[in-house]
Amino acid sequence: MTSQLESLRSQSLMIADTGDIEAVARWKPQDATTNPSLLLTSAQDPRFRPLVDKAIKDARGDTTGAIDNLFVQFGREILKHVAGRVSTEVDARLSFDLEGSIAKARRLIQLYEKQGVGREKVLIKLAATWEGIRAAQMLEREGIHCNMTLLFSFAQAVACADAGVTLISPFVGRIYDWYRASRKVDDIPIEEDPGVASVARIYTYYKKHGYKTQVMGASFRKTEQIIALAGCDLLTIAPDLLEKLAKAPGPVERKLSMDLAMRTGGEKIAMDEKTFRWMHNDDAMATDKLAEGIRRFDADARKLEKLIISLAAATPATA
Ligand code: E4P
Repeated sequence: MTSQLESLRSQSLMIADTGDIEAVARWKPQDATTNPSLLLTSAQDPRFRPLVDKAIKDARGDTTGAIDNLFVQFGREILKHVAGRVSTEVDARLSFDLEGSIAKARRLIQLYEKQGVGREKVLIKLAATWEGIRAAQMLEREGIHCNMTLLFSFAQAVACADAGVTLISPFVGRIYDWYRASRKVDDIPIEEDPGVASVARIYTYYKKHGYKTQVMGASFRKTEQIIALAGCDLLTIAPDLLEKLAKAPGPVERKLSMDLAMRTGGEKIAMDEKTFRWMHNDDAMATDKLAEGIRRFDADARKLEKLIISLAAATPATA
């Protein structure tokens, strides 16, 4: 019998949302996505300690260099198990720094290329702030493809498409978390799920207006949210949810399609910086979640930094 996962695979590209290389090898997704929190977890996992040690050794005492190396080491290993691309995130501290974001993205691509990995195999993840989106627009012109993350508002989605970025990751689960907390409820029925509705709105807008930017639903809390977005260009899914989908009997009905988008997509919005800032600011959930998301990724990056420093101190330097 077809599983929900198999059925979804025939409608959307399946991506693994994890820094666990063995999970990527097991699920054989098209692409894989990482973020600082996922890589902090993997860096603490004894199975991946040799990668951490190599990253530290190659950096020769430079902590920032060791973290860049670590992200690229994991990316390179993940790429051995996927046909497509790996997403590697830029330091959250650069979320409002246009030049800093561009420099970091170029540095990561340079490290990948040194390891024999071409830029077409990598998506640079940047927070979808105004500065992040402008950085992505410039990077795309250099053939450095970008995945815009921490995407919560329609304004962020419209600005990303106008900037011609390769891909966006709207966060279903964190939107759901915010509304659950603000309504003080344990669950929101799938038909009313604001995270699902947000991705569906973005998808229909992009398709109706002929944008090339791909939509990858991300940050899922339950399989129902994934199933409700069947047909979305890509879906990035954590291993525990992949497991549940693989065990559940399908098929799954297509929910998003070009045909539906042509009938329902809204009018085109003219986006500039003032409109972006106004529209995004007008969305309390999106302003809260973007700010919190940057703080959380930054906090995990700082934990990773401490881990690297303590491991480097314990590792005798070799020539
Ligand atoms: C993937 O690109 C995102 O970083 C990830 O899906 C976020 O998931 P979370 O909200 O469970 O942290």
